[in-house]
Amino acid sequence: MSANVRAPRGTHDVLPDDAARRAVVEDAAARILGAAGYRRIETPAFEATELFARGVGASTDIVQKEMYTFEDGSGRSLTLRPEGTAPVCRAYIEHGMQKLPQPVKLWYLSSFFRYERAQAGRQRQFWQVGTEAIGSADPALDAESIVLLADLLDALGVRELRLRLSSLGTPETRAAYRAELQAYLRAHAERLSEEVRGRIDSNPLRAFDADHSGTREVMQGAPLLLDRLTGEDAEHFAQVRALLDEAGLTYEVDPTLVRGLDYYARTVFEFTSDALGAQSGVGGGGRYDGLIEQLGGPATPGVGWAAGIERMLLAADAQAVGEPVVDLFVAYAGAEHRAAGFQIAHEARRAGLAAQLELAGRSLKGQLKQADRIGARYVAILGEEGATVKEMDSGEQVVVEPGGVIHHVLRGRTL
Ligand code: HAM
Repeated sequence: MSANVRAPRGTHDVLPDDAARRAVVEDAAARILGAAGYRRIETPAFEATELFARGVGASTDIVQKEMYTFEDGSGRSLTLRPEGTAPVCRAYIEHGMQKLPQPVKLWYLSSFFRYERAQAGRQRQFWQVGTEAIGSADPALDAESIVLLADLLDALGVRELRLRLSSLGTPETRAAYRAELQAYLRAHAERLSEEVRGRIDSNPLRAFDADHSGTREVMQGAPLLLDRLTGEDAEHFAQVRALLDEAGLTYEVDPTLVRGLDYYARTVFEFTSDALGAQSGVGGGGRYDGLIEQLGGPATPGVGWAAGIERMLLAADAQAVGEPVVDLFVAYAGAEHRAAGFQIAHEARRAGLAAQLELAGRSLKGQLKQADRIGARYVAILGEEGATVKEMDSGEQVVVEPGGVIHHVLRGRTL
């Protein structure tokens, strides 16, 4: 006998229970982002490989070792999207969105692909909800964007959250700082881990991310980019902070905050949850003022974030993203009442109730157990004497005419 074929490592099926919890995330995102003027966009699951090489940055882990890249039948190099910002910026350019009133505010909820070491909260196919607001450098857009992610995480009951915030300045500031940091790292090279030493030329900033103890000690004394910002960038960052203060958001300015993508300029931020294990990053983002130009479009600023659906659900309060409500379960004592039950369930749905009918031929006891299992708020038992409507929480019950069941449940719902 041959072995079962299983889903590839780092992927998982979205089963009905998971789908129900995801629907709660999607609804909350649509409501919160929609109210702030964000409109949905979806881009293709694969793109020209060059988009990510140019957009995300050739020296990033994502481009160097995590992309699912393949050649199609005509020899073009394509890549399953590892993230959403570069594709949305490509779409902005391709569809001439600079002609629309700015900023153009977009959101997406899609799956992404990275060849990473699979573990809890880290998959090779994962889902993100994200926003991109393109066409304005106003610090209020940075603050609004961060507040919206905070609102979404709050609506989902994501626990033990922390927000870290920093600014990376402009590419020029960063280039000068990079040279300063490289000189500092070279001067202390013998105490650094081999990996960090090997990356002094290509990606010195990642040294702040290292777990290696010698490297960490060296980094304690390293120069900080935040102390090297130009007056304009420092002012931009001060305004973002002031608006976040105004909104009552708690955050920590962390000058060592490193993001794994190269396109950021000025504001960067990350929400982590202490309720998660090693993969504590729930969502993050920042400003990417040079990206559109780098992809061949007109110089256009932008800011956005993405949050991992799996991680949000792992860190969420079970109640906030629990099962959807079942208002009514229709049970019957004997098959002769089934047609009446069918009718009541059907009419209840037309009246806007979530209603289910017994469909598995269970005994009455089994039916009541099923009603309990699915969390029905009311159960209606059809029998000789009419319909017994029981409120499951309180155990209170009344006998009504079968025609009165829906009215009774509707009234209970508005109480
Ligand atoms: P990112 O930090 O790479 O940013 O990913 C954002 C979020 O996606 C992470 O905080 C995490 O929750 C989730 N995530 C990332 N990789 C995985 C994985 N392998 N498994 C499960 N979840 C994962 C970006 O992708 C940027 N495009 C965000 C952005 C938008 N910046 C500006 N606009």
